[in-house]
Amino acid sequence: MIKRLLFCALACVTFLTATADEGMWLPNMIKSRIKEMRKMGFKLKADDIYSDTKASLKDAVVQFGGGCTGEFISPEGLLLTNHHCGYSSIQMLSSVEHDYLTDGFWAMSRSEELPVPGLTVTMLVKMEEVTARLAAGESEEAIIEEAKEKYNADKAEIEPIYYGNQQVLYVYRTFRDVRLVGAPPSSIGKFGGDTDNWVWPRHTGDFSIFRVYANADNEPAEYSEENVPYRPARHFKVSTKGVEEGDFTMIYGFPGNTQEYVTADAVEYVAEVSNPMKIALRTIRLDIISEAQSKDVATRIAYAAKHANIANAWKKWQGESLGLDKLGTVEKKKEYEKAFAAWAADKPQYANLLDKMHDAYEEVIPHYFARELFNESILGMEFFNYAYWFYIYDARGEKLTADKQAEARRIYLNDYRKEIDHAISRRLLSEYIARMPKEKVPSQLTAAINEHGSAEAFVDYMFANTRLLTEYPLTREKYLEDPMVKFAGWFYNTLQDNRKYAYRNLSNVPEIEMWYRTYMQALREWDKERAFYPDANFTLRVAYGIVTGYENADGEYHTHLTTLDGIIAKDNPEIYDYDIPQALRDIYKSKDYGRWAIEHNGKKSVPVCFLASNHTTGGNSGSPVLNGKGELIGINFDRTWRSTMSDIEFDPSICRNISVDIRYVLFVMDRIGGAGYLLEEMGVK
Ligand code: ARG
Ligand code: ASP
Repeated sequence: MIKRLLFCALACVTFLTATADEGMWLPNMIKSRIKEMRKMGFKLKADDIYSDTKASLKDAVVQFGGGCTGEFISPEGLLLTNHHCGYSSIQMLSSVEHDYLTDGFWAMSRSEELPVPGLTVTMLVKMEEVTARLAAGESEEAIIEEAKEKYNADKAEIEPIYYGNQQVLYVYRTFRDVRLVGAPPSSIGKFGGDTDNWVWPRHTGDFSIFRVYANADNEPAEYSEENVPYRPARHFKVSTKGVEEGDFTMIYGFPGNTQEYVTADAVEYVAEVSNPMKIALRTIRLDIISEAQSKDVATRIAYAAKHANIANAWKKWQGESLGLDKLGTVEKKKEYEKAFAAWAADKPQYANLLDKMHDAYEEVIPHYFARELFNESILGMEFFNYAYWFYIYDARGEKLTADKQAEARRIYLNDYRKEIDHAISRRLLSEYIARMPKEKVPSQLTAAINEHGSAEAFVDYMFANTRLLTEYPLTREKYLEDPMVKFAGWFYNTLQDNRKYAYRNLSNVPEIEMWYRTYMQALREWDKERAFYPDANFTLRVAYGIVTGYENADGEYHTHLTTLDGIIAKDNPEIYDYDIPQALRDIYKSKDYGRWAIEHNGKKSVPVCFLASNHTTGGNSGSPVLNGKGELIGINFDRTWRSTMSDIEFDPSICRNISVDIRYVLFVMDRIGGAGYLLEEMGVK
């Protein structure tokens, strides 16, 4: 370590150099990292992680529901992911009578498992770099079609990495019969709620259990009673031996979005322009929703997932802006770019690159911001998409039958409360008007607001006169004259314009991204010491690190493990986020932890969460945390407050991912859920 630091101080630009723990690597190219991984304690070989010819760890990892990761833990398709990843499924299956969010759910036999309509699990069949094939003139479509056919797959994609300098083919199979097997009560699965979210010390039992079903041939199939549990080529063996500081850890999952190579302009935009606007507008929505939730149980359930979703990014953006500021990322990037420009000055292909990138940002930012503002304000009004659905399908000449209207209602107005939407819409429309440049506001809207006197008054008028939210089905005359449908229609041009800027990040808008391809190439020529890993893009990656605490503040070290004692210390029946199940209090009182007992700081307790230095991001939730032997020791679910900027700058000295210890998962299944039979299925003896 000391040697590395010394070396860097002398020879490389330290702050941006990938160190041991930084990076999200492609599984089929992990060979280049294996030596280092083995030094840190990994005991397996590269082809145990990914192989085209035999079962490997990759066969036990899935993308869960499109945005999370999950892992097989039994030969019969038992699947583990986070509670917050299963949250909307659990909510969908819940009602005031069967409140699985509050009470938890445990299927005591296969027949009690609950199918989740619409939930999918996606498995990677094969990945392969196809840069050379494309360069040789093969078409993307041909490569994709051939792969689907060859691997009997429903989905194949070619994803660029390093801003298009290389291309990788991914072939997937999608399973659509996925059933809920178990979930702890939210007082365990979401313990600490949004208060503890993105924070250490953490005590959340953030897990839920599903089972994937297949047809008699072990192939993906739509839901059917005839389906049988899927038999994965590989599942993870669980290790109950526990974690020690310094132990090797590996995360295998589907990280979504990082932008480690962007220039100072992009960072400035995120930290100083985009995040502050988004935070302000979400604060408004969250305040109104929370207030309504505190007054009514049914509303609390109805808006639970919506609230959690809005709050999660809202809080992260705050930490991210703070973290980037603390690290001085903008300044450091400017220095880095200065050094790069000096090197590039006499190379015609790179000499003016940074200027061109800067110009491109100036050009695109107003439009990108307008789209983000529209998304956070107008799209924050829940009725909008429903109203726009009437407008656009009618404009396309479709007949909006009662059936179609019912379906749209189900999609766009689920768990809807008119009063909440009304209160939010008043505030958001005012914010939209105050923040959007005049020329980007639809002229009909400007006229309507003038006529009614204010944005709020116009919203009141819409809510008082609409039939959309109360009557169904609506005749064509009625919906065409509806004020909400008209309002939605005024944004037709806005929505067309926004499509040009609908990219994951500002830097991915084509007018900007086109320069990054050359920039990446140049960086790799110039900054030879830097280990370049491709930015996350929701494809399968490996991150490795060690179990370790960190110095959170001067003199304040955060240790790597939390325990049941910490849960009890936070327990408070008065506070929703900290009100634990009585069963947990009773177990604590009796100290009867059985096989789950550990000795911690001289006390008997039960392990709950641990920290490690893996580079992770959104999408990695639910990812298996593996030890050196490739055994499951935890489930990844979050990062610490001081890690929230790691999508842009990863600082190995403070960036930590948070996992729920597998022993706590088993303890809850066994002692709270009474689902010991699942432990047997997992081979935990
Ligand atoms: N911060 C974690 C992630 O980004 C967990 C989010 C779910 N928990 C919550 N309290 N909203 O997904
Ligand atoms: N909580 C995130 C997720 O849901 C993980 C993270 O951002 O660290 O994927």
